[in-house]
Amino acid sequence: MSVNELIEKLNQCPTDVSILAALLQTEGEECEQLAVAAMDCMTREVGVEVYLRGLVEMSNVCIHNCYYCGIRRDADVARYTVTEQQIIDATKECSNLGYGSMVLQSGELPTDGYVDFVCRVVERMKKETRSDVQPDGVGITLSLGVLSKPQYQRLFDAGAHRFLLRIESSNEALFKKIHPPSQKLEERYVAIAHLAEIGFQTGTGVMIGLPTQTIQMLANDIVMFQQLDIDMVGMGPFLPSANTPMANWPIATPLERLQLGLNMIAVTRLACRDINIASTTALEALHPNGRNLGLAYGANVAMPNFSPFDKRSSYKLYDNKPVLNENIDAIAIIEKTGRPVARYQKGDPLHYFSRQGLKATD
Ligand code: 5AD
Repeated sequence: MSVNELIEKLNQCPTDVSILAALLQTEGEECEQLAVAAMDCMTREVGVEVYLRGLVEMSNVCIHNCYYCGIRRDADVARYTVTEQQIIDATKECSNLGYGSMVLQSGELPTDGYVDFVCRVVERMKKETRSDVQPDGVGITLSLGVLSKPQYQRLFDAGAHRFLLRIESSNEALFKKIHPPSQKLEERYVAIAHLAEIGFQTGTGVMIGLPTQTIQMLANDIVMFQQLDIDMVGMGPFLPSANTPMANWPIATPLERLQLGLNMIAVTRLACRDINIASTTALEALHPNGRNLGLAYGANVAMPNFSPFDKRSSYKLYDNKPVLNENIDAIAIIEKTGRPVARYQKGDPLHYFSRQGLKATD
């Protein structure tokens, strides 16, 4: 069946795993058709604009020991946490450049002390970026892992309104293979439910091309995105990280993982329609133009890195992570795709409003 026939079928039945899987397997010249269809869907559902988030990798301190991750507890890396002022400086820099939102990401440290720190930072970020164009300050996405519901609530009350918590894989057996027993997939589902109940715009994501991961598992991941009714997806190819247990596990070639990563973006767009999808750094690790390729397969969010330069090499989730080639030219690089880049707009996922029967305000 051709890509276009498969897409017609998907439109009738968006949760059909075999159609999703067939689309994910698109190769060669047909990939172009898949990209065009995803871009059509994106244009219709959320528009062509690319929304910006300035990314600050706040801390690489982590209590977990995920087998794939370069900042896992046992990894031999210099641990850092940026200062409140460094985050404020990055936020002001982004805000001046027209970024409507920031993302604060870190390893997992579920202590009240750390949550207090993030709450203080969030409050200051909101206050100190108020302007005529953004009267309530920048939008704030957090990505801090599993926390308790009261901790999430405090972060929401401080002014954060989006949270991204990746499930990594919706397949129980695969999740267990890549995490120590202390980590439970079910806990992540509970956390995602808490986030949605509190009122966060809620996101999740998976790694693509993990050892033993099948196309069917990835198709099921997309069905899981639909079932969780998530507003945003951030996902990218798996990249081995030296000195982690998974450094040498057998995986597909870089080119295969890149294409699968792009296909996942396109098929997720076609299946989930009005959500926001980020084009992630992991794509860039596999291809010098990887993130722009993600934007050409239906992603609508870019997250240029604004972490302090001297800390970037310590937030090394995987090998070959591009860390230094990010600067104020990020917008110009995105504009090379021909897409308009939204300035001074939060870029909230329309799905957040449509799932509640509301209309977006900016
Ligand atoms: N390859 C790709 N992505 C990774 N992440 C962590 N380690 C790797 C890796 N080796 C991703 C995970 C995690 C996010 C912070 O980074 O999905 O949730």
